Amino acid sequence: MPDRTPFPGSEYFTISPIIKKLYIQFDKMTCAGLSAVFKGTFVHATATLPMCILEEHILGVDSTGKIAFLEPAEKQDELSIEWDFECSDIRELGEGEFFMPGFVDTHIHASQYSFSGTALDLPLLDWLNKYTFPVEAKFDDLSFAKDVYTKVVKRTLKNGTTTACYFATIHTDSSLLLADITNTFGQRALVGKVCMDFNIAHQKYKETPRESVEETQRFIDELQNKQYSRVMPIITPRFALACTGSLLTSLGLLAEEQNLHIQSHISESLKETEAVKMLFCGFQNYSDVYDKHRLLTDKTVMAHGCHLSNEELQLFKCRGAAISHCPNSNISLISGVLDVRNVLNHGVKIGLGTDAAAGYSHSMLDAIRRAIDTSKYISMHDSSYKTLSYKEVFRLATLGGSEALGLQNTIGNFEVEKEFDALLISPVSDGPFDVFDSDSNEDVVQKFINLGDDRNIKEVYVAGKKVIPFPRFEV
Ligand code: GUN
Ligand code: FE
Repeated sequence: MPDRTPFPGSEYFTISPIIKKLYIQFDKMTCAGLSAVFKGTFVHATATLPMCILEEHILGVDSTGKIAFLEPAEKQDELSIEWDFECSDIRELGEGEFFMPGFVDTHIHASQYSFSGTALDLPLLDWLNKYTFPVEAKFDDLSFAKDVYTKVVKRTLKNGTTTACYFATIHTDSSLLLADITNTFGQRALVGKVCMDFNIAHQKYKETPRESVEETQRFIDELQNKQYSRVMPIITPRFALACTGSLLTSLGLLAEEQNLHIQSHISESLKETEAVKMLFCGFQNYSDVYDKHRLLTDKTVMAHGCHLSNEELQLFKCRGAAISHCPNSNISLISGVLDVRNVLNHGVKIGLGTDAAAGYSHSMLDAIRRAIDTSKYISMHDSSYKTLSYKEVFRLATLGGSEALGLQNTIGNFEVEKEFDALLISPVSDGPFDVFDSDSNEDVVQKFINLGDDRNIKEVYVAGKKVIPFPRFEV
């Protein structure tokens, strides 16, 4: 047992025995290098299994927020000696409760939060012109930006999104504000200042190519100077239709020189895909446009890809680029249907995205359900088609998302050494589903996936730090 440091100030005043006990417990755990020990059921995806349910296990989180061990509970005595903790340090989960990895939303527009749940009556290009660009143009107003961005970060965290890959708008300062807000609330995030120098419908909501590149560089520099531990910049050309070739070239170079992540949209709707073919007529296809501009790399995540050919999927595989599947958006804007099984068969990395506000829900549970629906819809037309199981889609929402964002060594499941990004799921009695004596742990997991909501997400952790419930000062 390591020596205890004396309780600070204890020689000057009396402290309530409860606080003193809590302090000593905390002190003991940090001395031993642990910040928490949990015992119960842990559910996660692994390299070989889409879902693995570990009952009666014990997990330790170290003082840097990393997973120190995950072992069967019968090893508790050995572990307690090795890691120097006592029975009273262990937090035992309640009946039916389990931990799962936090959700990774690989594609979400923070700037579209104010109109989510509305404006779903038009196809993509008309939807952008009528609803989206006028709202995004308002983000030059920092107080408007602060209100919307605070609300979207709180909403997504409450719904279990521990990592979000955000589109902001063309405005550098409000995009920096989004990064600051995600950092304050403890959400892990990639944040993109949107780049676009071509917009016929809204001449005011666009940049010159020079402005776009200079402001992107300023965005990266200022964000990196903040040294947030879990918020990173991502190069964000909106999509080929909103960017000139010269802007795409500059952004590709910038990403390459500074080894940065890249996000954009690809082959979302047929009309958009046809327009790209016309505008970039010297290129083989939509993917070739990005590829020739060095925007298809192993740090790229492209949203949608509903209309990609097999040849394009092979190019994605070859480059190590990923797809973000956004099924709610694809149906809501009647854009298309992504064949996820075909993407997986091509060995292309894939995660799930809400694509709010084209997708009307900010919950990754919704993305999971729509992905299953879409897969079942495809199988209606092909009886030999293997629909995605709920377990496979659970994998996409967690480990798959981490792979799509190149964060698979840091998050995505409960492997030792990864950071503890986790959701404590509780089948509460006033929640959206009931549990019966006959239900196995797997039944409870499946009920949560299909019926659960934020009432069941009792606690949310990012790198071992509890971010939900919100700390008092932030509510
Ligand atoms: N393509 C270009 N911009 C957007 C956007 O904001 N949302 C969606 N769904 N597709 C896009
Ligand atoms: Fe999008």
